[in-house]
Amino acid sequence: MDLDKAIMGRRSIRKFQSREVPRELIEQSLQAAICAPSAKNGQQWRFTVLTGEAKQKFTTFFRETLDRICEEAGKQAAGSAFHSCKCMEEAPVNIVVWNTSENNWETEIHSVAAAIQNFLLKAYSLGLGTLWIGDIFHAYTETIAYFNKPWKLTAVIAVGWPDENPSPRRRKPLEEVTEFIVS
Ligand SMILES: Cc1cc2nc3c(=O)[nH]c(=O)nc-3n(C[C@H](O)[C@H](O)[C@H](O)COP(=O)(O)O)c2cc1C
Repeated sequence: MDLDKAIMGRRSIRKFQSREVPRELIEQSLQAAICAPSAKNGQQWRFTVLTGEAKQKFTTFFRETLDRICEEAGKQAAGSAFHSCKCMEEAPVNIVVWNTSENNWETEIHSVAAAIQNFLLKAYSLGLGTLWIGDIFHAYTETIAYFNKPWKLTAVIAVGWPDENPSPRRRKPLEEVTEFIVS
C-alpha cells in the first residue's frame, strides 16, 4: 500500500470482528515495528503477543483491576478505561508493548512509540484494525507484576479485523501547530 494512503487512511478501530488474525500478519506488522528508528539504535521495544485464552485471561485481569480501582476511589477513577477494556476484549489479539529503558533516558520511550506507529500503519495496510491503548496505565504496576517483566509498560495494541469504518478525527490545521523560523 502507498505510504500516503496508509497514513491518511488509518483510524483507531474500536469494534472488531471475532474472526482470528493469522499469526503471519501479526509477524509482518511486528517486522515493520522493529524497522523504526530508536535512540542510539537501542531498539528498546519489546512485545508480548496475546491471543486465545492468554488474551482472555489478561483482559479479565484488567477488568478486575479496574473494578477494584473503582471500589477504592469511585467510578470516575477509571475514566475511559472500561471502554478501552471492552475493545481489548473484542479484539482477538492484544499486544503489550514494553520499553526496556536500559539507560533510563527520556528518549527511550520515543523509540517504542515510533515502533507502535509503524505497527499500526503496516497492520492497516494488511487490512487489519488497531487501537493504541494508553488506558492500560490504569493498571500500570499490576500489569508489570502480571507478566513479571523488568521493563516499563508503554501501551497495549488491540488488533483484529475491523467491524466499523470511522470517519477521520479532526486535526488541528498545520498553521496552528507549526512555525517556520526563517533566517
Ligand atoms: C498514546 C496514545 C494513547 C491512546 N490511548 C487510547 C485509549 O486508551 N483508548 C482509546 O480508545 N483510544 C486511545 N488512543 C487513540 C486516540 O484516541 C486516537 O488516536 C485519536 O482520537 C485520533 O483518532 P485516530 O487514531 O482515528 O486518527 C490513544 C492514542 C495514543 C497515540
